[in-house]
Amino acid sequence: MRRGRYSKTQIPDCRHSNGTSCIRQRTLTSFAGLFLMLLFLAGSLRVAAAQGPVFMSEPPDDAARSGPVASPDDPKTPRRHFRITDPARLSDEAAVEAYTRVKGRMAAGYALSRHPGTEAYQSWMRVNQTPYRSAAHGQRYLNNYVNDKARAYRLFEDAGKLPVGAVIAKDSFTVRSDGSTVPGALYLMEKMPDGFNHASGNWRYTMIMPDGSVFGTTRGVGERQVQFCVSCHLAVESQDHLFFVPKEYRQAGTAHKP
Ligand code: HEC
Repeated sequence: MRRGRYSKTQIPDCRHSNGTSCIRQRTLTSFAGLFLMLLFLAGSLRVAAAQGPVFMSEPPDDAARSGPVASPDDPKTPRRHFRITDPARLSDEAAVEAYTRVKGRMAAGYALSRHPGTEAYQSWMRVNQTPYRSAAHGQRYLNNYVNDKARAYRLFEDAGKLPVGAVIAKDSFTVRSDGSTVPGALYLMEKMPDGFNHASGNWRYTMIMPDGSVFGTTRGVGERQVQFCVSCHLAVESQDHLFFVPKEYRQAGTAHKP
């Protein structure tokens, strides 16, 4: 029925043909309106709750997939890494101990990708003393290894441009507050010949998941997925796109046998 506006004087006299008073009818209408409004509100709250985690809290743990977070506007183009929900804060010794436990499992997983570098990277020179955490790579514990061609990397800011064939491998793992250790992704930068990709300074960025699947690689499978690596590293274009290991974790010159 039509919701009318009645003046106080009209209401008492108003009667429908079936005898119901307009006052009763109007009260019923108001209840129905209120009910519909509540339904609508409950609906909106449910939608907000469903969207909430995307914008308001961290995504779920990354035990199996430590890839980057999809951006809300384009789920195919990640902007940053998954963060871990309950990371443990370890002493350097505990981080070394945790890494010793998990590194074999990590190497075996990455090698399944058959991507160059994954089979041997743990025998290369390691340029950090102990695994360190970095916000830029999702608060995981990280290690940086360099192959022979990338040895100049250990000179850090004095490294200059690294030659074609230089490979830097950064592995990662997570330690949860319950002490469990979980392999994370392997991040690779490989210097390719001139003309490979100007925007990345001819670096090929590759991200390999702990199960050996390739999440993305510049000029190859899932290229868009690693575009965010290129963009962030562009900030240090003047030093060959390299950020270098935080100073307090750098390893003095000699090769470190893991
Ligand atoms: C938000 C910025 C940011 C993003 C995104 C990012 N990185 Fe990095 N990357 C850094 C910083 C800062 C460092 C140095 C500190 C560290 O080790 O985390 C670094 C270091 C590295 C290194 C060691 C060489 C160097 O620059 O010293 C490699 C290899 C690497 N990143 C690979 C990748 C790959 C592959 C991706 C994409 C899957 C990626 N990075 C995404 C900021 C970023």
